[in-house]
Amino acid sequence: MIFATNNAHKLQEVSAMLGGKIELKSLRDVGCTDDIPETADTLEGNALMKARYIHERYGTDCFADDTGLEVAALNGAPGVYSARYAGPGHDSEANMQKLLTELEGKSDRRAQFRTVIALIKEGKEYLFEGIVTGSILEEREEGEGFGYDPIFRPDGYEHSFARLGDKVKNQISHRARAVEKLVEFLKQ
Ligand code: IMP
Repeated sequence: MIFATNNAHKLQEVSAMLGGKIELKSLRDVGCTDDIPETADTLEGNALMKARYIHERYGTDCFADDTGLEVAALNGAPGVYSARYAGPGHDSEANMQKLLTELEGKSDRRAQFRTVIALIKEGKEYLFEGIVTGSILEEREEGEGFGYDPIFRPDGYEHSFARLGDKVKNQISHRARAVEKLVEFLKQ
């Protein structure tokens, strides 16, 4: 099955969760170097857009994900725009810095990561959602992971996703929860 991503971190995370039951091929594995459009204004829209693009070209079952960090005090921003929060061409460091600046002096630090997976199987479309609630730290806590991991602390834990490490993150993350639903569906 094609997982419409070139993010090695994500491919590794999802493959680990599937426990080797399904062989995943990344876009690179199937030779797709296209810049797949992600121009919808919702996570659902973007995930479907990517999955449909791959399905139309390769005709195989596939899935795509889209993730956003939704911050309560910012009315759900950066949300679907999480990847380019600090502007086009900016990296995770700049995105995190912008978020920390926006939240300076704010006591409401509640946030959630939300992942939507769009699956196309035998021509039919399905959506799966995973959410992890938590809060935005005042300062980075470095470690493993990527993106906003150094500043997101999941509820019930003392440290950031980055400090907790991939093993813990893979058990409780937004993506883990969405993938669990996907795997449950595929098993049926
Ligand atoms: P995308 O949907 O995977 O492209 O992710 C959108 C943005 O959210 C990017 O800036 C990612 O770095 C960030 N992001 C996605 N998943 C995670 C995660 O598990 N931890 C931290 N940041 C993430």
